[in-house]
Amino acid sequence: MSFSSMLGFLFRSASTSVVLDLVDSGLPSVTHWGADIGPLDPSTLRALVVGGVETPGNSAVDQAVRVSLLPEAANGWLGKPGLSGSHAGKNWSPQWSVFDIQFNGSPIAVPEGSATSPTVEVHTAEAGTLTASARDALGVLELVLVVEVSVEGVIRTRALLRNLSSDPYQLEELTVSYPIPSAAGEVLDFAGRWAHERTPQRRPITVGTHRREGRTGRTGLGAATLLIAGEPHFGFRTGETWSLHTAWSGNHIHQVEKVFSGVQLLSGGELLLPGEINLAQGETYESPWVYGVYGAGLDDAANRLHRDLRSRPQHPKSDRPMTLNVWEAVYFAHDLATLTELADVAATIGIERFVLDDGWFGSRRDDTSGLGDWVVSPEVWPTGLTPLISHVKSLGMKFGLWFEPEMVNLDSDLARSHPEWIMATGAQLPPESRHQQVLNIGIPECYAYIRDAMCAVLDAHDVDYIKWDHNRDLVDAGTLPTGTPGVHEQTEAYYRLLQELKERYPGLEIESCASGGGRVDLGAIQLTDRVWGSDNSDPIDRQSINRWTTQLLPPELIGAHIASKTNHITGRSHSLAFRAITALFNHLGVEWDLRKVSSEAIEELTFWINLYKEHRNLLHGGTVVRIDLPDPALSCNGVVAVDKSEALFSYVTLANSDIWSPGRIRFPGLDTEALYSVEAILTASMKDAVRPTPWMGEDSLVLSGAALMRAGLVAPIMRPEAAALFHLKRV
Ligand code: GLA
Repeated sequence: MSFSSMLGFLFRSASTSVVLDLVDSGLPSVTHWGADIGPLDPSTLRALVVGGVETPGNSAVDQAVRVSLLPEAANGWLGKPGLSGSHAGKNWSPQWSVFDIQFNGSPIAVPEGSATSPTVEVHTAEAGTLTASARDALGVLELVLVVEVSVEGVIRTRALLRNLSSDPYQLEELTVSYPIPSAAGEVLDFAGRWAHERTPQRRPITVGTHRREGRTGRTGLGAATLLIAGEPHFGFRTGETWSLHTAWSGNHIHQVEKVFSGVQLLSGGELLLPGEINLAQGETYESPWVYGVYGAGLDDAANRLHRDLRSRPQHPKSDRPMTLNVWEAVYFAHDLATLTELADVAATIGIERFVLDDGWFGSRRDDTSGLGDWVVSPEVWPTGLTPLISHVKSLGMKFGLWFEPEMVNLDSDLARSHPEWIMATGAQLPPESRHQQVLNIGIPECYAYIRDAMCAVLDAHDVDYIKWDHNRDLVDAGTLPTGTPGVHEQTEAYYRLLQELKERYPGLEIESCASGGGRVDLGAIQLTDRVWGSDNSDPIDRQSINRWTTQLLPPELIGAHIASKTNHITGRSHSLAFRAITALFNHLGVEWDLRKVSSEAIEELTFWINLYKEHRNLLHGGTVVRIDLPDPALSCNGVVAVDKSEALFSYVTLANSDIWSPGRIRFPGLDTEALYSVEAILTASMKDAVRPTPWMGEDSLVLSGAALMRAGLVAPIMRPEAAALFHLKRV
């Protein structure tokens, strides 16, 4: 086999390498994505590419099939093609030819060579952007693939597809694919429902497709979130893994496909409804960014993403404020006196941000009415919101306000005056969900109306923070009067509105909420400052939700609250220590009627809030460590400072273990050479739940990082549904 020209791009950093190559004038392919393979020169690049070329099997096409970032049927790829669409049945299998290549903004000449005297070039960088522009053989379509590789080795790719023909092009699907090695034999992704988001599920990768479709018009409570392929039995700290994430808050796809030749691909993109994208001549479709993350174990992958997100200019830099959200304290029962009293208690215990939730506007006295009417209710707020806001500010706290911009109750002035702005496919409205319908902000007039209504509230009040909610799935979400699919437009309008608000109100922070954790994705997070992890703050459930949400997002971007002793959603009761230690590892808040809390509990809550403040730099800047324990009754997580100078670990009994003495806990991620003191943080209230071990009684216990990582310390015997906390500090 010979190639006339080969152009390789090697990105090497953070112990990973990504090799992209263009052969002749074909689309870029990923030849290697994984652990570092060292430098490449033209001869070794050629060897690497040739070393990956398979022998065609019998009864297959007679040439090796190169699978590009957009796998092409025209090359003999018989799995799912990267692009599906046509000009009314024509041009459905384009043959692409790259005509322009840019590397970090500079053009690179497409090398010319011949089969007898091939040209091979390699460009090496730590990080950068490769842009390849291609045209199909008939000159009716143009494709631009943009691939970015970060210093953390995180890849992201997006495709821009332009119709050059005077005939409209109906795009059905465009997915970007990354190949995974045959060593990856299992795939992990997530499922979920309301109050139970991101539950892990695993299966072997077999021939065929495991395709997760998000058809809910929002990211979704049951979103795949990530598709993580890995070596069999990969764990938090073991086994190579390759993850895919589609950064899109509307309908979307995460897929793994294995074909008979053994090639296996992770693919992601937007899920388009029938006829949703019709490109007129000169129009371009832009796909979402599709992320690929390699990790030696799940923690390595998660921490690469965390560091990547932390390096963004818009990443929140200030201390994540200790938040009080009043939802579970008062629900819809808004009243100035009650909320003023709540603010007073909040300030005394160290709350830094006070968030007024649903119920302040229009006729919104319960969830059947008022959505869409973003005007302060004179009924419940006869003197307006300013007295409360001024009071909150006088106590030194920031003020946050709840909105649900893309929604409407039929019982609202907005729905009465603009029924044509409700998303539907025809005369019949979609079934209601939480008594509400979806407002079509893809319609420019509707968008402008909602934006102006929000701006009127924000202009008139001193608001630092918006909790942006989205409490139903999109069903039959068409644009009236024709009823054509409107989810793509709606998702773009959502991003546009976030962007406009961010530009207009510098410093305004926005929380991404959707019935709890239904909008957790890397599209939304580019324009928001945290996600609400789940409506469920029960620590048993939240241990798992938090643990898995950090697979995508760093802890400072995940809101987690300490709620009342008896959880409003599960009805289970838990100690304050267990609730606090569970929420502490994220962006901490409180969601509890503090007016009804005993003085002992207020004292203990203050202790946990102070502890959060004392450690938040560590919690929000460190490396996340999750530990695989064979006993499902036990769980252990931690965070280690980047310089390894300290760490916090929680040890949790999710259930009653079969084992009486749980053995030693090992603390990964430390500096093997350093010495650490280990302190168990125990409040008086924890004494029945956590039975101290002899080592906890020592005045000062100092051990090397190596000993703590490899030998560990005996865990305390604990009651079920309890947590212990350990602070390790380099001495
Ligand atoms: C959703 C959110 C909650 C709360 C309510 C208000 O369920 O997830 O936190 O804001 O809406 O209606």
